[in-house]
Amino acid sequence: MRETTRHPVLEAAQLGLRALLAQPGLAAVFLGVTLAEGFSQGLLVWALRGALRGFSDPGGIRDGALLSAAALIFGVWMLRSACTYFGEDLSARIAHRVEHQGAMQLMQKLLSLSVRFFDKRSQGDLALATYADLKGIRFVTMQISVIALQVSRLCGLAVVAWLISPKLTLVGIAMIPLGLLPAHWLGQRVTRAAARERDTHAGISEDFLQVSSGIRVIKVNRAEGRMLAQTERHMRELFAVLVKQVQARSLSRLLFEAVTGTGLVIVLVMGGRDVGAGRLEWQSLFSVLIAIIAVYSPVTGLLGSFNVINSVLPNLHRLQQVMDAPVEVPDRADARPLRATPDVIEFEHVSFQYEEQTVLRDVSARFRRGEKIGVVGPSGAGKSTFMSLLLRLYDPTSGRITLDGVDLRDLVHADLMDHCAIVLQEPFLFPDTIANNIRLAKVDASHDEIVAAAKAANIHTEIMQMERGYDTVIARRKDGRGISVGQKQRLCIAAALLKNAPILFLDEATSNLDSVSERAVQSAFERLMVGRTSFVIAHRLSTLRTVDRILVLDHGHAVGLGTHAELLRDCETYRRLWMAQMSAEPSRGDPPPTPAALRVTG
Ligand SMILES: Nc1ncnc2c1ncn2[C@@H]1O[C@H](COP(=O)(O)OP(=O)(O)OP(=O)(O)O)[C@@H](O)[C@H]1O
Ligand SMILES: [Mg+2]
Repeated sequence: MRETTRHPVLEAAQLGLRALLAQPGLAAVFLGVTLAEGFSQGLLVWALRGALRGFSDPGGIRDGALLSAAALIFGVWMLRSACTYFGEDLSARIAHRVEHQGAMQLMQKLLSLSVRFFDKRSQGDLALATYADLKGIRFVTMQISVIALQVSRLCGLAVVAWLISPKLTLVGIAMIPLGLLPAHWLGQRVTRAAARERDTHAGISEDFLQVSSGIRVIKVNRAEGRMLAQTERHMRELFAVLVKQVQARSLSRLLFEAVTGTGLVIVLVMGGRDVGAGRLEWQSLFSVLIAIIAVYSPVTGLLGSFNVINSVLPNLHRLQQVMDAPVEVPDRADARPLRATPDVIEFEHVSFQYEEQTVLRDVSARFRRGEKIGVVGPSGAGKSTFMSLLLRLYDPTSGRITLDGVDLRDLVHADLMDHCAIVLQEPFLFPDTIANNIRLAKVDASHDEIVAAAKAANIHTEIMQMERGYDTVIARRKDGRGISVGQKQRLCIAAALLKNAPILFLDEATSNLDSVSERAVQSAFERLMVGRTSFVIAHRLSTLRTVDRILVLDHGHAVGLGTHAELLRDCETYRRLWMAQMSAEPSRGDPPPTPAALRVTG
């Protein structure tokens, strides 16, 4: 799974080997059982030949000899069955452990990746990574077990056939590589088709996720037909690539069997001549034929494994891409801990772009500890991005952000996170109980603390009205229930309150609240913001009553930073925003330190 350009068998062998080495105990027992199984296969043919030769004894068939031959064959047969049983059991265990480890590594990796990684991935693609791609790991590991088993069978049978007649064995076995040649080039076709299958599957997963998350929009806009057509198209594509894979697999098997069938006939003719000339006993010819037919069966099995591996290679490659994705915001080796609340937070000529588009341009600003900063600007101005940079979810393209003169990139990121609490523009909650969602950042919070936070966020009364109070599960789950966006937001506020971090970020935190709740939450914030450095992004300027200064962003430029009065006087963008809001919402215009002349009442 490391390198993506190697031969599939090598790649799979490497993965399997690593899987086996990771659990040496299980692997040793498994290999022992597998070898025993393979060799008992050869032993079976050998015992059969012994019994057949007994039939030709001059004294005729003796009951005793027949019985002991039968007992021997039965014993070997049962030994082989027992080994198969344990071999399968062990191989499933090994494969499951590998899948388990793979899932943990994948989860760990995803959690360590930057936000940027997720900006570019569809949910369907990631859902598939956890499901189908991980299953690919299990498949390949299982195939490694199958391969070990088939190879040991092959060896056991080949050794016995060799002991009986080296010449015929050579002829029979020489056909195998010939027969496998077509499989080699058909294998690439399987992999290509499987890669397209994976992409199509990601599309189908995405379709179903869209139905789940967008059902209201779909229904109201009567977009059912479009969804059906989209899924229909994906399913057709899927069918086409599945057929391609099956055809390639069946064709490789057909060609293999045609070649080996020829080999079998050659052995029969050559062996028949030898028997005729008295150079070989007929029992030996019979046993060699059985052994060679039996050899072809593990080879067919190997061919199957080869095809399975080819078809899961795209999954392994996809996983590998995720595992190889660079961690974009890694801690430096000498990263410094952030122990105290920073006195000064400074943007120094910060520019930032997501892709080509520059979103922040040469932003410089200085904030002091305990200051309450409002961030305003037209939609798309870069307000949320500004916050993401401060949280170091992205690094600036140029310039730097410093806390007490130390570049954010030189700080231990986890420490920075511990110092910050956020309420996002799009509230996110886990499918869990309300209490657990509030105690997200403070796992050991007591019930009283949770209730206090909920009361401060003005959501306590509503929680108490729910069927199971704080134990209500919020999720689209069998035992869950939905809640309103405003409620979600207030739960996030409660969680942020409980986290009690010295730096606060609120992105449109009150946009989904009615005026009454907004005031209640506002007052909770005002209490909360005391002594904390707070950044409050707001569209409604009326929510910025108590901030100390306001940063105005416009098309990525910081066009103003000052008090409401200063900005009204000096900042064109702010004046425009303020006027627009006053004319749209005069009743809400009971703003902060406003010059009396500008105060508009509704
Ligand atoms: N993940 C992203 N990848 C690429 N471009 C992005 C991404 N997120 C935002 N943008 C772009 O960056 C610009 C600034 O976005 P940002 O979300 O910071 O605006 P905003 O000021 O918060 O707007 P709003 O008030 O509507 O929330 C926009 O032009 C947006 O299209
Ligand atoms: Mg925003």
